[in-house]
Amino acid sequence: MKEQLEQLLAAAVAQLQEQGTLPADISPRIQLDRPRDKSHGDFATNLALMLAKPAGTNPRALAEALIAALPENSLIAEANIAGPGFINFVISQDQLLEQLEAAYQDAQVGVSAVDQPQRVVIDYSSPNLAKEMHVGHLRSAIIGDAVARVCEFLGHTVIRQNHVGDWGTQFGMLLAHMEELEGNELAMELSNLETFYKAAKNRFDESPEFADRARELVVALQSGDEKCLRLWQQFIDVSLSHCQEVYDRLGVKLTREDVMAESAYNDDLPQVVEDLREQGLLVEDQGAQCVFLEEFKNKEGEALPVIVQKSGGGYLYATTDLAAVRYRQNVLKGDHLMYFVDQRQGLHFQQIFTLAKKAGFARDDLQMDHYGFGTVMGKDGRPYKSREGGVTKLADLLDQAEARALALVQSKNPDLSMEEQAQVAKVVGISSVKYADLSKNRTSDYIFDWDTMLSFEGNTAPYLLYAYTRVMSVFNKAGVQPDSLTGEFVLEDERELALANLLVRFNEVVHSVANKAMPHFLCGYLFDLAGAFSSFYEACPILQAEDDMVKQSRLKLAALTAKTLRQGLELLGIETLDKM
Ligand code: ARG
Repeated sequence: MKEQLEQLLAAAVAQLQEQGTLPADISPRIQLDRPRDKSHGDFATNLALMLAKPAGTNPRALAEALIAALPENSLIAEANIAGPGFINFVISQDQLLEQLEAAYQDAQVGVSAVDQPQRVVIDYSSPNLAKEMHVGHLRSAIIGDAVARVCEFLGHTVIRQNHVGDWGTQFGMLLAHMEELEGNELAMELSNLETFYKAAKNRFDESPEFADRARELVVALQSGDEKCLRLWQQFIDVSLSHCQEVYDRLGVKLTREDVMAESAYNDDLPQVVEDLREQGLLVEDQGAQCVFLEEFKNKEGEALPVIVQKSGGGYLYATTDLAAVRYRQNVLKGDHLMYFVDQRQGLHFQQIFTLAKKAGFARDDLQMDHYGFGTVMGKDGRPYKSREGGVTKLADLLDQAEARALALVQSKNPDLSMEEQAQVAKVVGISSVKYADLSKNRTSDYIFDWDTMLSFEGNTAPYLLYAYTRVMSVFNKAGVQPDSLTGEFVLEDERELALANLLVRFNEVVHSVANKAMPHFLCGYLFDLAGAFSSFYEACPILQAEDDMVKQSRLKLAALTAKTLRQGLELLGIETLDKM
């Protein structure tokens, strides 16, 4: 609807340009908003306010001219001028009914594909493999996964990239520790990477001989020593399977095939530095190879360096990311590179993007975006820690989520069989953790709180999952399939209208999630939708409706609500349950 309305307005602008009311050389961006107050209509635009100056007229007069120039259509029931020159639109009821029917019939629930599908390369999760995944790895994995799902749904080709950190000095220490252990003992120790890492770190800090050996091994590893490579590969394999377990539990769609590790770029790193040198961008600073970009300055106003090679010859995080940009553009043929990485790496990515363009590694029109996110905080307002004060392993956190959900399910629904309880607890536990994260503004920090995320009230996973089962129970009771209803939509009660108006907004919301990489838009929408259904359900009897026509229409509203909730949750990576 929004797109159609935009097109109508664009036609009105063109018409006024032809008449000479508006200058011909402008191409204004048409912005349509949803008025906060429904009585102001369905959409509002400030177009007349924006264009009054170039038109040399006053906004209200221009608003009138724009309305008069709108092409004949069946979409707009009313267009009114408000305040200094806003135009408010009321969408016609016929149009609403048509869209509802289309969404009901459509496998994509009325969500249109993008006009220009792109190859979108999405870098997410990307943990360092030296340690097990911890709570700090939660956000990238689940936000990145949700946006990847949405982009795919909209018709883009999504290429997932798990840019795991599998190289660097820490591995020397891990290899030295592996060397000291053998066979079974080694396998045992590796089954807990967290303690393995700590044990290696202890040895490193306490024994100078061990530390020397660790440093030797880094050198050996980097020069391709076979025994080192074998040990390293063993470690990486164990660590990657840990990650995979976490992804599978979380319903994150990453697989081993999506892993493109830092070490995969090793061979290209000397070339990256060489190419920068040829471009005349390299400066040697205290033995290190750097690029100084005027765009990024410190407090003293001096350009900040991007270091691409250390004085000893080693390469850095930035060097690998430059190589990765090239690979993503040239080999993966990406049009848009997205990065879901902690906000604190913002400067790093801005430097990489700027430098990649400057050095000609990235085409001018390659789109690159870093979508940062805030920190998961404890109730004490500091980064979330385990009760013992250490970092919380993600696997332990998910165990805890499932255990808490199980207790909840047992108290709420003791009639379910043990297996059913376990199954429900799994879905509720995991989705509560995911949803609590996704429903917050990506860029803010948020407080990780079991009680609120597992609550059946408010914008939470349990609330939405329960709302879904409630809608589905209508069909169980009626003994009909939600997807095989025949009647037509008729909207009379204001609660029916409110629900219908929300249902047809799904398209717009899903597109906005992709455009801004903001999954919380979708969460907020689904929460509103569940609320609108609940008001409708209380006020408008479905199975006991006054006549069959009304009953069929209400069943269809319920069916479309269920379909929209299910699809919306799936886009967020959240499974639904038929009962709970
Ligand atoms: N491994 C890095 C870390 O844990 C994140 C990598 C993100 N992706 C990238 N292309 N730099 O901080």
